[in-house]
Amino acid sequence: MRMLPPAFYPASAPTTFSRSDFGADFRWGVSAAAYQTEGAWNTDGKGPSIWDEFVRRRGRIKRGETAEISADFYHRWPQDLDLLNQMGIDDFRFSVAWARVLPEGKGIVNQKGIDFYSRLVDGCLTRGITPWLTAYHWDLPLALQQLGGWTNRSVVGWFTDYVELLAARLGDRVQHWMVLNEPMVFTGAGHLLGVHAPGRRSLGGFLAATHHATLAQAEGGRALRAALPATARIGTTFSCSYLTPARPGLARDERATRRADALLNRLFVEPALGLGYPVADLPLLNWLDRYHQPGDEDRLPFAFDFLGVQNYTREVVQHAPYVPLLWARLVGAAARGVPFTDMGWEVYPESLYYMLRQFAAYPNAPRLLVTENGAAFPDQLNLMGSVPDAARQAYLQACIGQVLRARQEGVPVEGYFAWSFTDNFEWAEGYAPRFGLVHVDYETQRRTIKDSGHWYGRFLAGEQVRL
Ligand code: NOJ
Repeated sequence: MRMLPPAFYPASAPTTFSRSDFGADFRWGVSAAAYQTEGAWNTDGKGPSIWDEFVRRRGRIKRGETAEISADFYHRWPQDLDLLNQMGIDDFRFSVAWARVLPEGKGIVNQKGIDFYSRLVDGCLTRGITPWLTAYHWDLPLALQQLGGWTNRSVVGWFTDYVELLAARLGDRVQHWMVLNEPMVFTGAGHLLGVHAPGRRSLGGFLAATHHATLAQAEGGRALRAALPATARIGTTFSCSYLTPARPGLARDERATRRADALLNRLFVEPALGLGYPVADLPLLNWLDRYHQPGDEDRLPFAFDFLGVQNYTREVVQHAPYVPLLWARLVGAAARGVPFTDMGWEVYPESLYYMLRQFAAYPNAPRLLVTENGAAFPDQLNLMGSVPDAARQAYLQACIGQVLRARQEGVPVEGYFAWSFTDNFEWAEGYAPRFGLVHVDYETQRRTIKDSGHWYGRFLAGEQVRL
């Protein structure tokens, strides 16, 4: 087990706490996503998504793995929901695969796809589990990609129609909605770095995708608001990492950190809040103007009921003259000699506290929920049939302590969802990084609740944490 150095756990954070310290209304759940867990990539009329195509390209996914079967959630969801019951987890966040309900992304509806999500929602409700539904967790229908995908402005209309369909078919039973999952990642990794689907590397494409995703974020929110009862809660989710300069006090690194913050933490949330894009701190965003049409300013904001904060690590930023336009690079955890997870991400629970504070500091910030937080460690099922994952448990406990610290300081954070419910397909990294509270043996599809999952259940039942 990798211990957390005491420095990561400041004296100002609570060291002894239990569920009741968060209040009775605080939501506790786990998160998952369609492409990462469902499998059944072409079952019952589902159309292909950009990820179904991307995983087939040579060299894109570690070990050439695909999510054709993954954790087979498409077929195993009843048992998996039973497991949630067994663990005492009442809130479950998952996403809809757009191409399952609209195989071509628009036009003809695949009733079998709708039926699947309808049964899943009913399955949650009959078990006393509240479904939290993400409309878009990165699996764009391939047919839409062939029309330019997120770089084609028409995607805003396609997406809005899709969201209206979800609201019409599931809105009578789903009350908690998230429009997008981490737009910075699907635009940045997909269109700028080319390491995620659709594997493009173009600044223009990235900026176009950014503007269209920001419009879709707000239009999706408006579509849900118009279609759903006033009691529905509408949010969207953002990746974020607390950023610190590699050489504190050095002006170049401090400026590089501000630019990275504008790109990684502010780009999508600020236009939603009516603050516009953070161009003052990242001049390259001026080029977003090219994709603006008259009236867009008024369409970018939407009054979300909540923002989902998704945090896994912090990043250390250094001035880098050889990285055009950003002039910054991230210094990895290994190079800094600090503990890191199987993703190479520094173990740094305080990051979550700082990001909650940063989001709460916006003058018109709505309520916050931690919609993802977790860690990948090299878990193994032992001969006793258990999965001892003390490092994950320690990480989750420390992060939950940081959430309480923020809450006690007045940050309006109202829920915490661990990533992830089960082990699943970690995008370009394939199956090796295991984030689950539940272990999946991909050969047999056997599920085993890890020690961290058992602990989470006990915590939810009232057991105290002592750090
Ligand atoms: C955020 C993404 O939403 C999720 O899909 C991914 O698996 C986790 N981060 C871990 O990388």
